[in-house]
Amino acid sequence: MPQPILRTDRLLLVPLADRHLELEVELDSDPEVLRYIWGRARSRDEVVESHAQRMALAGRVDGLGFWMAFGCDGGARASTAPPAEDEGEFIGLMMLPPAHGPDQPDDPTVTDLGYRILRRHWRKGLASEASRALLRHAFDTVGQRRVIAQTMAVNTGSRGVMEAVGLRYVRTYFPHWDEPLPGADLGEVEYEMTREMWEAGRAPAEG
Ligand SMILES: CC(C)(COP(=O)(O)OP(=O)(O)OC[C@H]1O[C@@H](n2cnc3c(N)ncnc32)[C@H](O)[C@@H]1OP(=O)(O)O)[C@@H](O)C(=O)NCCC(=O)NCCS
Repeated sequence: MPQPILRTDRLLLVPLADRHLELEVELDSDPEVLRYIWGRARSRDEVVESHAQRMALAGRVDGLGFWMAFGCDGGARASTAPPAEDEGEFIGLMMLPPAHGPDQPDDPTVTDLGYRILRRHWRKGLASEASRALLRHAFDTVGQRRVIAQTMAVNTGSRGVMEAVGLRYVRTYFPHWDEPLPGADLGEVEYEMTREMWEAGRAPAEG
């Protein structure tokens, strides 16, 4: 199963492809966007490397991977139709790869939700809207058992998204960093949504 194009009321989520590289470069050129991730903007070469890693990760588990979010006028929830020539205004990068970090189990039924939005689009509910679509995709289409999300404890915006979409706090942990970012002393947090939580939260009308 290839990654589908997903739609929400305001967003078109298009599977990450090589043609999106310059948009990834633009996203990572803002140090404020990367404040809790790299602590600085990233060079084009660094983004080229990340892009290759993302494309490789997306090949590991059918249906999982990375999506570029574009503004749209809404429509059906999912489609296999190819994207239009003009994909719309770029909003950000949504992530749903298999869990793969050193602190994560190597389990193809666990996926790792993440998001990175252009600063001019913050605080409009867009990361939450896209995350809900990815949760639906993870549980209802791919059949994942658990979705986790991790961030620095001090990343209030990221935790706000996790809480807004119904993930629950699991743990705080303290990885070793060679060059810790400000706030690293407060650790990293992990949140989760299990299949049971997802099914319990679904409205009866949705089946
Ligand atoms: C984190 C990020 C994706 C949030 O995107 P967003 O589209 O602004 O988030 P939303 O508008 O969906 O907000 C979701 C919730 O978090 C809260 N929130 C978002 N940003 C916040 C902030 N900076 N401070 C406090 N709360 C915040 C919102 O109020 C909202 O809660 P509500 O539903 O109760 O109102 C965005 O700030 C970003 O791209 N940050 C840089 C990249 C990053 O840190 N990614 C996470 C790395 S793990």
